[in-house]
Amino acid sequence: MPWTSSPVARISGRLRPPGDKSCSHRAMLFSALAEGTSTVSGVLEGEDVIRSRLAVEALGASSEAMGPGQWRITGRDHLSSPEHPLDFGNSGTGSRLMMGVVAGHPIEAEFKGDVSLQSRPMGRVLNPLKEMGLEVLSSADGDRLPARLRGRSDLQAISYTPPHASAQVKSAILLAGLRANGTTEVIEPRITRDHTERMLRTYGVDISSEARGEGQIVRLVGGQSLSPVEHYAVPSDPSSAAFLMAAAMISPNGDVTLEDVMTNPTRTGFIEVVRSMADVTLTPIESSADGAEPAAQITTRGTGALSATDPAPELVPAMIDEFPIFAVLAAFAKGETRVTGAEELRVKESDRISAVVNMLRVNGVDCDETPDGFIVEGRDGPPPGGGLVETHHDHRIAMSALVMGTASQKPVAVDDVSMIATSYPEFFAHMASLGADIRND
Ligand code: S3P
Repeated sequence: MPWTSSPVARISGRLRPPGDKSCSHRAMLFSALAEGTSTVSGVLEGEDVIRSRLAVEALGASSEAMGPGQWRITGRDHLSSPEHPLDFGNSGTGSRLMMGVVAGHPIEAEFKGDVSLQSRPMGRVLNPLKEMGLEVLSSADGDRLPARLRGRSDLQAISYTPPHASAQVKSAILLAGLRANGTTEVIEPRITRDHTERMLRTYGVDISSEARGEGQIVRLVGGQSLSPVEHYAVPSDPSSAAFLMAAAMISPNGDVTLEDVMTNPTRTGFIEVVRSMADVTLTPIESSADGAEPAAQITTRGTGALSATDPAPELVPAMIDEFPIFAVLAAFAKGETRVTGAEELRVKESDRISAVVNMLRVNGVDCDETPDGFIVEGRDGPPPGGGLVETHHDHRIAMSALVMGTASQKPVAVDDVSMIATSYPEFFAHMASLGADIRND
């Protein structure tokens, strides 16, 4: 059923975006691996994270809801084979990180997912894990889900340079490395989000990261167990915040303040780029909590004039999930925007290069695909709008199109919104509280 977002006079208000998806998945998985009880708060209650929680329960951990976003997880050092397939729905992160967990236990598990997840490559994780000793008993089309995996307790450590900049691949190898013989090493030519490294330290793991050019080498010695944490607080998700920031930027007199937004430098590429395009103010929040991610209060104001800015290719990993909404800003901006070095967008929840270009074209914006990005001819103001956007089961395409509709000349419609609940169940309520007019008709 199509949903339509119509232009509104102003987007303004103050709110806390939902908990960070990457940290919420890790909080579930790492707590499940730590023998004893951990308490986590600020957890995203989106479908993707719920599936991670159900998966760790299927492997023998238990959980107790303490309040909204607050969980008590009791983990086990030795996990057991699940009785039923683990269904990760739309979630690349949940499924790929869990492959690294299963690899290091003498258990068997079947992994499955929705049509979008079934189309995504798993070889990037399964190949290094196979080198460590994981057995892939079956998989669809070579390296797709559904796949049946058998782990073992005597994995062999590897030194691995992932061919793609991917935190999911790095994390799966490190999780397997925890239970391998020897020192596991992941060499990243370009640093990707480092939540796994930071959070493993919080859970008592000895892991080192050494800078090397634009990248790093991460090392951990096998045979380490995780210790439960008294309290891990997940800050709010900069990737969800990006939609609200963009809505403020394209709105005449837009003014939105977002609280407790994570500002880990491996995630702030979007903020860095838009700071040179619009009026964005960050006020850092002091935290005394051990292992806390840095966070800030972010105020974004619409100035009525956005100037096109090309993101530097080295910023791509730090804004990899923000390109759909960045493309919307490029459509409103003055001048041409070129995105390069972002070929990873082709294997996200959809082929995001093609989905972004279609989203803009059906709304009257000139743009072109390139193998590793896209080129947008900015309209220097509101684009025509009036299009129906195909979302391809991709939450970030749906939210980007709906944000575009708040300030385009005519309303913008999307074919489906159900998958927005994977990462941002409160999206409609939050957008309405800021003044958006989004309805199903
Ligand atoms: C994530 C890593 C990124 C990102 C995804 C979450 C993570 O994927 O796109 O939304 O939590 O590790 P890749 O590792 O495939 O780049």
